[in-house]
Amino acid sequence: MTIIEISDLTFHWPKQPTLLDIPSLTIRRGEKTFLKGPSGSGKSTLLSLLAGINLPTTGTIRLLDQPFSSLSATQRDRFRADNMGYIFQMFNLLPYLSVIDNVLLPCRFSDSRRQLLNGQLPQEARRLLTQLHLPDACLHRPVSTLSIGQQQRVAAARALIGRPPLLIADEPTSALDHDNREAFINLLMEECERQNMTLLFVSHDASLEHLFDRHLSLSSLNRATGEYA
Ligand SMILES: Nc1ncnc2c1ncn2[C@@H]1O[C@H](COP(=O)(O)OP(=O)(O)O)[C@@H](O)[C@H]1O
Ligand SMILES: [Mg+2]
Repeated sequence: MTIIEISDLTFHWPKQPTLLDIPSLTIRRGEKTFLKGPSGSGKSTLLSLLAGINLPTTGTIRLLDQPFSSLSATQRDRFRADNMGYIFQMFNLLPYLSVIDNVLLPCRFSDSRRQLLNGQLPQEARRLLTQLHLPDACLHRPVSTLSIGQQQRVAAARALIGRPPLLIADEPTSALDHDNREAFINLLMEECERQNMTLLFVSHDASLEHLFDRHLSLSSLNRATGEYA
C-alpha cells in the first residue's frame, strides 16, 4: 500500500519564489525514510504540506490512498487525528495542560486511536513516557515547567500514542542528550516495527541515518531553484 504519494507538487509562501517543486515521491507502507537537506531548504515546509497545515500551490498529495490535499480543512483535521502522529520542530504542546493530558490529546480527537487502546489510555501514555525516561513526578505538571528536552519527549509520546499508521518527525532529537536520544530512537523503531508504521524522519544527525531503510535528500527531490516561476 502507498502511504504517501506526491505528484507534480509545487509550493511557495506568499510573495516568495517557488520553494518546492517535487515531480513525484512515493513512500510505501512500513518504509522508514530519513530525509535530509540544508537548513532553510524547505524540509519543515514539506512536512507541513504532508500534515495538511498548508496546502500545495499546485499538484496533489495522496495519503493512505486518499486525496488528502483536496479534502476540506475539517476532513484533513479528522484524517490527521486518525492516521498521523506528528512531532513538530517546535513541539506545539499546550503549555497549560499537564504532561499526561498533552500526550492524551490526539485520542480526544480520534475514535480509532482511542479504541485501539481499549480503555488503557493513561497506562499507555505512562508506558511511553517511562520508556522515554520521563520521571513519574512530571506527569501532572504543566508541560511548560519542563525542560526543552523533556518537552520534546512529551511530543514524541503524543505522536506515538494509539499507533497511527503514519508518523512524521521534524528534527525530533534536536534537544535530546545522548542517552535520551538513544531511548527515543529505540522506542520509535520498536513502535514502528510493532505496527508496521510508516516513518518520515527529518534530521541533521547523520549518526542516525543507518537506522533507516531509505535515505532521501530534499535537494535531489526538489527542482525549485529559488526563482520566481
Ligand atoms: N510561515 C512561513 N511564512 C513565510 N516563509 C516561511 C514560513 N516558514 C518558512 N518559511 C521560509 O521557507 C523557507 C524554508 O523553510 P523551512 O521549511 O523551515 O526549511 P528547513 O526546515 O529545511 O530548515 C525559508 O526560507 C523560510 O524562511
Ligand atoms: Mg525545519
